[in-house]
Amino acid sequence: GTSVYGDYIKSVIRTVRDWPNPGVNFRDITPLLQNSAAFRKLIDSFVHRYQELNIDAIAAIDARGFIIGAPLAYEMGCSFVPVRKKGKLPFKTISETYKLEYGEATVELNSDAFKKGDRIVVVDDLIATGGTMLAAAKLIERTGGEVVETAAIIDLPELGGSRHIREAGHNVFAVCS
Ligand code: PRP
Ligand code: ADE
Repeated sequence: GTSVYGDYIKSVIRTVRDWPNPGVNFRDITPLLQNSAAFRKLIDSFVHRYQELNIDAIAAIDARGFIIGAPLAYEMGCSFVPVRKKGKLPFKTISETYKLEYGEATVELNSDAFKKGDRIVVVDDLIATGGTMLAAAKLIERTGGEVVETAAIIDLPELGGSRHIREAGHNVFAVCS
């Protein structure tokens, strides 16, 4: 679902046409981050949604997911766990490779990040095709962790990502679309 702050948050996100390729409308969250009241409202709305759900960890996706995942975990008093692009984590990892529009990508998770039954919220800035979020959710489930919800600032529903993630059995929350 979409949050009560959705219209406000959407108003402080900039759309850059034809970037990085013709036909892509890039959702640029930097104006939101520069606006301290908007950034606080965004993090507070996630805290409010998850603080009573016995969450053990926020898993955040490299790189823009880190920007919201870190303050969220700090405020909730739970663990912060990075889901990183391939080759960035130095210890023992597990990985998932998924299809992009052209080619493929791999995300990795520390194999000791979670224990069986841990309750985890996965966060990222945006859901497009949903491939990145779904790969992160798969990594978490492979560790025995429970994905309580996948959360993003922005969903692009016309790309089918959130539907795809829901069809895989996960809850999906986005502040705006
Ligand atoms: C973007 C975005 C999501 C992902 C969404 O990340 O931050 O992680 O793509 O696309 P999808 O739903 O089609 O998988 P990007 O790979 O551009 O990395 P960045 O955060 O490092 O800029
Ligand atoms: N990642 C994938 N598609 C995107 C978009 N339209 N805007 C910002 N980040 C993206």
